[in-house]
Amino acid sequence: MVTDQGLRGIFPPSPETVESAIVNNRDVLARMADQDLQRFWEDQAKEFVWFEPWTKVLDESNPPFYKWFVGGVTNIVYNCLDRHVQSWRRNKLALIWESESGEQRTFSYHALSREVCMFANVLRSMGVRKGDRVTIYMGRIPELPIAMLACAKIGAVHSVVYGGFSVEALHGRIEDSRSNVVITCDGSFMNGKIVELKAIVDEALKRCATVEHVIVVKRTGQPVVMENGRDYWYTELMNLPIARTASGASRCETEEMDAEDPLFMLYTSGTTGKPKAILHTHGGYMVGVATTLKWVFDIKEEDRYWCTADPGWITGHSYIVYGPLLLGTTSFMYEGAPTYPYPNRWWSLIEKYGINIFYTAPTAIRGLMRFGEAWPNRHDLSSLRLLGSVGEPINPEAWRWYYEVIGKSRCPIMDTWWQTETGMFMITPMPETPLKPGSASKPFPGIEAQVVDENGKAVAAGEEGYLVLKRPWPAMLRTIYNDPDRYVNQYWARFPGMYFTGDSARRDEDGYFWIIGRVDDVIKVSGYRLGTAEIESALVSHPTVAEAAAIGLPHDIKGNAIYAYVILRSGVEPYEGLPDELRAHVGHEMGPIARPEKITIVNQLPKTRSGKIMRRVLKARAQDLPEGDLTTLEE
Ligand code: WTA
Repeated sequence: MVTDQGLRGIFPPSPETVESAIVNNRDVLARMADQDLQRFWEDQAKEFVWFEPWTKVLDESNPPFYKWFVGGVTNIVYNCLDRHVQSWRRNKLALIWESESGEQRTFSYHALSREVCMFANVLRSMGVRKGDRVTIYMGRIPELPIAMLACAKIGAVHSVVYGGFSVEALHGRIEDSRSNVVITCDGSFMNGKIVELKAIVDEALKRCATVEHVIVVKRTGQPVVMENGRDYWYTELMNLPIARTASGASRCETEEMDAEDPLFMLYTSGTTGKPKAILHTHGGYMVGVATTLKWVFDIKEEDRYWCTADPGWITGHSYIVYGPLLLGTTSFMYEGAPTYPYPNRWWSLIEKYGINIFYTAPTAIRGLMRFGEAWPNRHDLSSLRLLGSVGEPINPEAWRWYYEVIGKSRCPIMDTWWQTETGMFMITPMPETPLKPGSASKPFPGIEAQVVDENGKAVAAGEEGYLVLKRPWPAMLRTIYNDPDRYVNQYWARFPGMYFTGDSARRDEDGYFWIIGRVDDVIKVSGYRLGTAEIESALVSHPTVAEAAAIGLPHDIKGNAIYAYVILRSGVEPYEGLPDELRAHVGHEMGPIARPEKITIVNQLPKTRSGKIMRRVLKARAQDLPEGDLTTLEE
């Protein structure tokens, strides 16, 4: 990781950028929101179709269980699809997709809506009802957003599990969500290889019994086992009369949803125990996501927008699927790896499809930077107007490369700080914001962020502290599915009255925020969020392991890499190849992204007297850094 503090200074936007931007009065908007937060968000909510208007914008009577647009009735899918289909956007492209092998598919708003309607009919006919949970575990293909939208259209709650996760991660998420239906593919293509998704589903389902139906999209064509009465091919279902109305039309009534009805749950890693499902809703999430996307990425009617994330993470939910469709945007989606077959794939796609707005992650930039400028320089990238970054702090060297080599020093970089829990951008530049490389700049209008000390008191400018948010926002998580106590304890207990982000940060004299990183047991590997607890429990599930501790250490490309320490069960002698076997085991249970870089077999782990592993001590030792306060250490 490049740690140089270089690249100081401010990069102001060009006068043309400011002049043409949808929002170029950020400070005015921020002041308006400060004066009347509810009115500010109410004005944004009026951009959408509501079947019934709200009676109250924000209900703060039972904190931290805030409610937005109380009494309002809508459906996010109505605003993503139905209303566009009734307008001139009917024939506008909603989605352009390219496979790893170069095959192309496009969907107009009409075509996308039609597919969603038919699949929604299929789900309904299988008995899926409002409030039911459906797990989606797929590769990056158009049927993934189609499945999400079809669920939301009929009021079912989708739980997308990232296609890079594996058996135990999938099993835990299906079981916790109590899904009756799983939607998957035979396999997915990544880097020229097949990931056997259906086989992983089969193995996961052996460990849980709630699932009645599995719907399988054929993507790779490799042989899979189809269990009679449980497993169905997507295409076959879509060709049945159940995909249509009684009169044979490919239409489907959109369910009317209360603004506070759940839209989706998304599992993310936390400090302890099993992963938790963050719950988002139809109304507030819709308003927050669309407003932030429009103002920050300055999306105009004629733009082509590409977010490289996977729909299986929050970035994909908010800014590949829901946000762009709410705005009636044309999005591009690519199935595969950025280096397939060569490291110019992304740059060639930007040129081929004339992408104007490009949103990616620092880890990807660092990974592609390594192949040199010649790859992007072979392509005409002049269509680009705005760039974006998310997932971790962007180091100065990567920022410079992104800005100069990809954006040709013309395109501002929107370094957006936010979380699965926040649903929408929280601290972010807008096109008019003068940029400081490495800083996500300032809170979005209506958002109040602060850096505080142990006691919740604001620290002075320049000092490091805990990042908290002080006012509710419409796309905020409503709870942790089935675990409201954990919601309160995890986010609202440490600093009463404030939402604790789990991040540390500094704020400089100009009010710019500099995110430092996680202060809990979450590790960001290549921008992916993983919990030490899940990795440790995968290790302990191996017959030779008694105890395990996982930590993140700095890595040049991934940002952080996982290192694990294990104590073997008594009587087990370490043998050659055991560490590799354990790494493979974690890969099999959790997925390749969770596979530790290195596993060390030890006799002891540093613990507090109460038996808690002191990962901070392991981290310091691994890096030859001072071990800090050891008064609670038992060793
Ligand atoms: C980190 C991803 C610095 C941060 C949208 C946060 C960032 C966690 C940035 C959430 C950024 C995200 N600069 N750090 N621009 N964006 N983070 O839930 O630590 O996968 O708490 O959501 O990513 O990760 P999550």
